[in-house]
Amino acid sequence: MSHVSNKAQAVTIAALQAKKEAGEPISMVTCYDSAFGRLVELSPIDMVLVGDSLGNVMLGYDSTIPVTIDDMVHHTASVSRVVKRPFVAADMPFLTYATKEDALLNAGKLVQKGGAQAVKLEGGEAICPQVASLVANGIPVIGHLGLTPQSVHALSGYKVQARERAAQKKLLADAMALQDAGVFCLVLEMIPAALGASVSKALKIPTIGIGAGAGCDGQVLVMQDLLGFDATFKPKFLKKYADLSEVIGDALVNFNKDVKSKKFPSAEHSFGD
Ligand code: KIV
Repeated sequence: MSHVSNKAQAVTIAALQAKKEAGEPISMVTCYDSAFGRLVELSPIDMVLVGDSLGNVMLGYDSTIPVTIDDMVHHTASVSRVVKRPFVAADMPFLTYATKEDALLNAGKLVQKGGAQAVKLEGGEAICPQVASLVANGIPVIGHLGLTPQSVHALSGYKVQARERAAQKKLLADAMALQDAGVFCLVLEMIPAALGASVSKALKIPTIGIGAGAGCDGQVLVMQDLLGFDATFKPKFLKKYADLSEVIGDALVNFNKDVKSKKFPSAEHSFGD
């Protein structure tokens, strides 16, 4: 396992911007608890997102829609207690930023109680007033365009977005509007690689892609996806860096076998008088 010292300098917004300007790719993973947070802290990863994907990954929902602000605060606090060097951002869940007032109240919870350094909102021009208000109140904001999972029903499923020229023009206009409203970073999800590259080139701020091609300024994957927790989940954009479903499955089979055969605990794992 290749580690960097956790005393290495904390990643800041200025450092992320400098990476864009230097052409140095930014790495981001999702993380939902302190167990994984400790491992990320020891890694060289730049950014951690406490994504509302925790609805699917941790809470057993089939979308991000049921996730509440209390769920997000609980998991963000777990992560921010141990993640000190990478930059920590948290998702604002469905309907928690419908108005400027809602956005301020709920982002405030993620920052004050959860310890997030920034919040992420899904949407384009329509949410720029909320973005500007958060930024004016000192809360850094990440935008999210392309496939926006909170709109899964409106989008008729999880599929590649902005394949047509008009949708591509709209996505670029949304990206520019978000930049003007003050986002410091933009997630682009499941769009054609050429569009990911052209939006990244047009923006001053860094883009982080997931299924948005190599032309983005950084890349993000869901932690459990990249570690291979679900052998059946194989979307085109996902590269698995481990096969933990097999490793964990084998460990559980072996523990069960040892318990049933009374091989565990042996003297080695038992206390003497
Ligand atoms: O919730 C999430 O995990 C996300 C990432 C996929 C970017 O928004």
